[in-house]
Amino acid sequence: MKPANGKLGVLCVGLGAVSTTFIAGVLSLRKGRGLAGGSVTQMAKIRVGRGSERRYLPVAELVPMARLDDIVFGAWDIFPQDAYAAACQAAVLQRDDLDPVRPELEAIRPMPAAFDPAFVTRLAGQGGNLKSGTRSEFVEQLRADMRRFKADNGCDRLVVIWAASTEKFIDYQPGIHATADAFAAALSRDDREAVSPSMCYAWAALQEGVPFVMGAPNLCIDIPAMWQLAEEKQVPIAGKDFKTGQTLMKTVLAPMLRTRCLGLDGWFSTNILGNRDGEVLDAPENFRTKEVSKLGVIDTILRPDEQPELYGDVYHKVRINYYPPRGDSKESWDNLDIFGWMGRRYGMQIKVNFLCRDSILAAPVVLDLVLSIDLAARAGLWGNQPWLAFFLKSPMHDASRGEQPLNDLFQQYTVYKNRLRELGGYEPDEELE
Ligand SMILES: NC(=O)c1ccc[n+]([C@@H]2O[C@H](COP(=O)([O-])OP(=O)(O)OC[C@H]3O[C@@H](n4cnc5c(N)ncnc54)[C@H](O)[C@@H]3O)[C@@H](O)[C@H]2O)c1
Repeated sequence: MKPANGKLGVLCVGLGAVSTTFIAGVLSLRKGRGLAGGSVTQMAKIRVGRGSERRYLPVAELVPMARLDDIVFGAWDIFPQDAYAAACQAAVLQRDDLDPVRPELEAIRPMPAAFDPAFVTRLAGQGGNLKSGTRSEFVEQLRADMRRFKADNGCDRLVVIWAASTEKFIDYQPGIHATADAFAAALSRDDREAVSPSMCYAWAALQEGVPFVMGAPNLCIDIPAMWQLAEEKQVPIAGKDFKTGQTLMKTVLAPMLRTRCLGLDGWFSTNILGNRDGEVLDAPENFRTKEVSKLGVIDTILRPDEQPELYGDVYHKVRINYYPPRGDSKESWDNLDIFGWMGRRYGMQIKVNFLCRDSILAAPVVLDLVLSIDLAARAGLWGNQPWLAFFLKSPMHDASRGEQPLNDLFQQYTVYKNRLRELGGYEPDEELE
């Protein structure tokens, strides 16, 4: 394990609600302001040893995580505003929280984005802070950005994390996405349908040996071409889609049903959201990307193939409704129609009404992913990092090798803790079923 010496550059793709809430929070924590609530790397204590030997260690004592003081922030966005202006516009944190770190936020100015309006139609014609060129020129410019940022800020290492808008749904195309060679060929011939802008960021990061995390549900790095390049360049990657609100609740409730062998007829999830993310997801082609990510979750927990009488016919529906008056204050409703003894329904239902600030939940997840993937890189782990599924809604897995995604939150936590124990030189000691 290489020590966490020197500065860690964190480059956020997208300087919107999530990124600015994350950055402002870390800058505040560095000044001793606020609480790292929701951040496992900052708040959790993990048991090592057993019986009378057991101790509970903060993550930073278990493994050599990078220190918050050593992080340098950068970003790309189509809007040219600095991080302070962007945070004010996102209106998640209040001026009371932002003003004490205003100079640091103002110093973060986004680099021009690799953007294609065809992938985020709701943002077409906006912003203007854009790169121009073919897909392979995008990659070269992004690589140059990373090198320049690293040199200018004296960084020892970088991490790139996508917290930009969800792109429109694109199908996996084996002829293009299955191998690194086929993907490189598609880049060279400027295939603008099959190569999304997010893929350009990921490809550029991997070419530079920089770990990449995908925080939206975009296809992006969830293709064998990227996995191959990550293996070849020996770089860790993780994705997709931060697990923060409604899906977080699902991955807690579904294990409860399964553990108690309670049956499920249907699960209806809807929510209202009024921030820019909600506006982008209002376009059907972008919502489709999110819908696929949200729908996959419960099947792998309930396992209908093993329990067809209980879960063989679940009607699962997910809706996101753009509702501007709410801004970043998302409200979600879930309705579960369940059954039990004697197969009786009697109208048994579970209702969950979750009111949250989307970015307040996402910011600590960004921090944990960034610090964990940097740890992975220093530990010599590369390729997909399934132990980071704990933070992700739609964990990447290679179905062609029979891999199953792990969605149960508590099983994911076990895997995460065990990996940290191993990396800290302790025995992993909790077993999964
Ligand atoms: N907040 C959550 O709880 C949560 C959970 C899971 C996933 N996400 C995802 O995280 C992402 C960010 O969410 P947000 O609320 O900050 O959204 P946001 O709209 O506030 O910010 C996204 C930013 O990305 C920029 N952008 C779009 N395309 C870009 C590109 N190609 N290059 C650079 N910048 C680009 C936009 O201009 C915008 O400023 C979204 O994809 C969202 O779906 C959020």
